[in-house]
Amino acid sequence: MKVGIARERLAGEQRVAATPESVRQLVGLGLEVIVESGAGTAAGHSDASYTEAGAEVASSLDPAAVDVVAHVRALAPGTAARLKPGVVTVGLASPSTDLPTVRALADARVTAFALELVPRISRAQSMDALTSQALVTGYRCVLEAAIRLPRFFPLYMTAAGTVPPAKVLVLGAGVAGLQAIGTAKRLGARVSANDIRPASADEVASMGGTFIRLDVEGEAAGGYARELTADRGALQRELLAPHVADADVLITTAAVPGRRAPLLVTRDMVARMRPGSVVVDMAAESGGNVEGSVPGQDLRVPTADGAGEITVVGLKDAASAMAADASRLYAKNVANFIALLVPGADGTVAPDFSDEVVAGACLTHDGEVRHEPTAEALAALASAEAPPGEIDETEEGAG
Ligand code: NAI
Repeated sequence: MKVGIARERLAGEQRVAATPESVRQLVGLGLEVIVESGAGTAAGHSDASYTEAGAEVASSLDPAAVDVVAHVRALAPGTAARLKPGVVTVGLASPSTDLPTVRALADARVTAFALELVPRISRAQSMDALTSQALVTGYRCVLEAAIRLPRFFPLYMTAAGTVPPAKVLVLGAGVAGLQAIGTAKRLGARVSANDIRPASADEVASMGGTFIRLDVEGEAAGGYARELTADRGALQRELLAPHVADADVLITTAAVPGRRAPLLVTRDMVARMRPGSVVVDMAAESGGNVEGSVPGQDLRVPTADGAGEITVVGLKDAASAMAADASRLYAKNVANFIALLVPGADGTVAPDFSDEVVAGACLTHDGEVRHEPTAEALAALASAEAPPGEIDETEEGAG
């Protein structure tokens, strides 16, 4: 069967869903691989390197001519609509935000797997693209801060005097936050962190950070955070304020699955930081942990005393900005997931839905949206789009 690797179409997206190394793995499974010309260029892979690895390079990828499509960003609805019934797609599908594509995939009777939905169990770790890309983002956000900070991260004791280390505060200590802590430590900063999951205290310590214990905790089933009530959120901001004011660098990575990113830092809290301090909001694209942050932009916020400014970086496309290593890891996640769909050595793709990883990652199959929260969001969207008369009929029918 044929696996197609498309050139990513979204402006600014530089990653690719297959590297020559992962192509070798796919060919070893008995699959034919077709790579769209130029797909790997931004990630450092020439067309020739794919050919050497055993792929065919095509000037354009005909979505109707492949059995599996591997991608990074969610496919455009028009691309999804042109796929053959039964085609399998594997990639990030942004199920909570890209509903038109999900509808197009279901209508086209595509079997779509969203890597965001891969269950976070040990067996599936090698397919966990959220983790691999969060690692890249967590590393990158520290570098974005370091380059803007008008100070060193490490302690320097020189003949010209002693330079104290920068103080870095990380809010949200999941995969990206822990990586940010480790990276800031490696650069020599003094690092502290907070998270509302109690288990994160030990994880922060294991990365060399000091955990800031607040009387605000919130953990849901499965080890994820749950959304705090408005009161608890306000309490958390109040308790965090002095820690934020004391930081030279603030990095925010907090997220609650399926929800808008929690607001952890108000503009007033930012204004109380020292002049020259830097804030990097990793959650800027999903609503922002920092009030007013704008994805892809640096804002200058005047300090409360008017003595200077703080830079607030709205992080955007951070993993894509490190396309080579982000793609290396992502492509491996994709190839490992595809391997799970190929039971024999003859390259036949046959998803086994009794496997919890396959079933958990399935977004659409056989004309249905299999992921319950996405199906509900689509139903709500359909109701909102339907003329009033149609809504009444649906409600009567459902009742
Ligand atoms: P995420 O991207 O959903 O959230 C990032 C962090 O923000 C989380 O640590 C969360 O607790 C924190 N957060 C949410 N609201 C907050 C608030 N108000 N204040 C401070 N922090 C807040 O999380 P991620 O990185 O995807 O990891 C979530 C969990 O999954 C963790 O327990 C992690 O260890 C676990 N995990 C398990 C894996 C496995 O077993 N294969 C793989 C990756 C993660």
